Amino acid sequence: MTSGTTADGVERVGDGATSGGRPPRRRVAVVFGGRSSEHGISCVTAAGVLTALDRDRWDVVPVGITPEGRWVLVDDDPGRLALVDGTLPSVDAADGPGVLAPRSPVEPSLTVLADGEVPRALGAVDVVLPLLHGPFGEDGTLQGMLELSDTRYVGSGVLASALAMDKHYAKVVLAAAGVEVGPWVVLTDRAWREDPAGRLDAVLATAADAGASVVFVKPCRAGSSMGVSRVVLPDDAASARSALAAAVEAAREHDPKVLVEVATPGRELECGVLEVPGGGAPEASVVGEVAVTDGRAFYDFEAKYLDPHAVALTCPADVDDATAEAVRATALRSFEALGCEGLARVDVFVEPDGRVLVNEVNTMPGFTPSSMFPRLWEASGVGYPQLVDRLLELALERRTGLR
Ligand SMILES: Nc1ncnc2c1ncn2[C@@H]1O[C@H](COP(=O)(O)OP(=O)(O)O)[C@@H](O)[C@H]1O
Ligand SMILES: [Mg+2]
Repeated sequence: MTSGTTADGVERVGDGATSGGRPPRRRVAVVFGGRSSEHGISCVTAAGVLTALDRDRWDVVPVGITPEGRWVLVDDDPGRLALVDGTLPSVDAADGPGVLAPRSPVEPSLTVLADGEVPRALGAVDVVLPLLHGPFGEDGTLQGMLELSDTRYVGSGVLASALAMDKHYAKVVLAAAGVEVGPWVVLTDRAWREDPAGRLDAVLATAADAGASVVFVKPCRAGSSMGVSRVVLPDDAASARSALAAAVEAAREHDPKVLVEVATPGRELECGVLEVPGGGAPEASVVGEVAVTDGRAFYDFEAKYLDPHAVALTCPADVDDATAEAVRATALRSFEALGCEGLARVDVFVEPDGRVLVNEVNTMPGFTPSSMFPRLWEASGVGYPQLVDRLLELALERRTGLR
């Protein structure tokens, strides 16, 4: 899709032109916001990426998705998407005309729907950069929609996105591939409604087996620590059940499927994985560490985005070479096991005995210049604008359809 006229007959400006031997200017739709509870975080990520994109090389089409799911053609103005005084930005339907995604391989144009006007074809894009976190963006749904029209996009495809988003199935697949994960119990919506006492007993039995008195209760498919609780189990079973039930209900505010994990005392380390243009083996970054400051029990939403003093991100982490190597190897195995493409951040716990347990794999990790993933790559020799470019190049060279 690099010629001047698209399959639906629409002329595009600045398309396919080479001047002075420079590569042709390509068109990228940067898609952000979205329906998940991480809408605002996605907007902050978009601000970073829009700032970094080289406009000489990229014709940028910024598309915001409102919390209700409406696609809006917004101004190319990163300043509007910044996190100011703890208030997260958002996309509003009034921010621009509506826009429709490409409909099929023979109708690859974006369509603009301004109020009171006939729909207008905006032309095709060469690649979509879905900077979306959470359900309806990072979970394979948007990826499936783009697959239907043979539209190239950055990052993992349908299955890997869905697997990584679902903390339960990610564990099943990782464990089957020989990647270590901690003990867990899943509470599906039906099981919870039909037999809550039985599920709570299963949780208590799993904790007892592991000799643990602390568990984490989380929505299976969420992010940014939303709905995650750390529960210290009281000694008497009745109090333990009621503390757990309250945490399960809090997680269910985000997802009817809930996961309970035994808490690990391990250090929280993160590693970036990035594919290499030309089809080489994926590379792992240096390893970073997340440590919350005293008084905070875990890396919760506030520590992630609102309180800069609550957390220390150390990159590279102060770990010995063998540990760093074990984490990198685990990250690469996890990337392969889930069938990820493009990029992923693999989050692990390193136990006091040195074992590496995978906590989760993020197929679209936080991506502001100060987020862990870009920092890991910066420390590995790939700067932020270069990282964005590399992801777009990888997506451009990727086959459409089954691969
Ligand atoms: N099993 C666990 N043991 C110890 N800490 C945990 C465990 N699970 C989660 N945490 C803490 O909770 C945070 C959020 O949990 P996580 O599973 O990463 O959810 P999210 O997808 O929202 O980031 C982690 O970064 C970590 O600090
Ligand atoms: Mg996490």
